[in-house]
Amino acid sequence: MNSVTVLDHPLVTHKLAILRDENTASPAFRKTLLELGHVMSWPVFSHLNVANTEIKTPMEKTTEAVLVYPFPCIVSILRAGNGMADALSAALPEAPIGYIGMQRNADTHLAEPYFKKLPDQIQDRQIILVDPMLATGSSGVQAADFLKRDGAKNILFVCLVAAPEGIEYFHKQHADIPIITAALDRELDENAYILPGLGDAGDRIYGTK
Ligand code: URA
Repeated sequence: MNSVTVLDHPLVTHKLAILRDENTASPAFRKTLLELGHVMSWPVFSHLNVANTEIKTPMEKTTEAVLVYPFPCIVSILRAGNGMADALSAALPEAPIGYIGMQRNADTHLAEPYFKKLPDQIQDRQIILVDPMLATGSSGVQAADFLKRDGAKNILFVCLVAAPEGIEYFHKQHADIPIITAALDRELDENAYILPGLGDAGDRIYGTK
């Protein structure tokens, strides 16, 4: 309950520093996000369920811990989640990818859903829900609500940067969902951007403004 893991590793902090740097342009941002996602896939996927399964090598029979069926899935909160989903998917191509569309209302700063497309058997899969920025927590909470409404029972939330306010709100609504983040930042500003943060993740990934 209320589990938060902040990844503390030189590769994580080094790549995060590149992402935070305002001089990192979109192509380098995307490349570094992909690299950081690869690094994060190790701790993120360490939670996956496995079962000992008999395998026959060319030499003899053995048992190996193999992912259980149905395979885990990745669910990306559009649009910034896609960068992380791509990176995690490279490490686990067996995982189908679902999408939940959320957009932030510029006045209220609250997330509003506009799209959902999920893999089948969502209720039986381990779900890696990804969104780089856990700011107010509103998108993450609504996405988790969506998933639970469809029967999801086993969700892990993965982000790059989290604000204390977002973690508190997320866990007030979904105490059962562990959070893994590359960084826990100081606070939100008056426009609900994370400080020090990295700016608008979607704009920086896709070069939009
Ligand atoms: N979304 C972002 O992309 N950045 C923030 O700092 C907060 C929300």
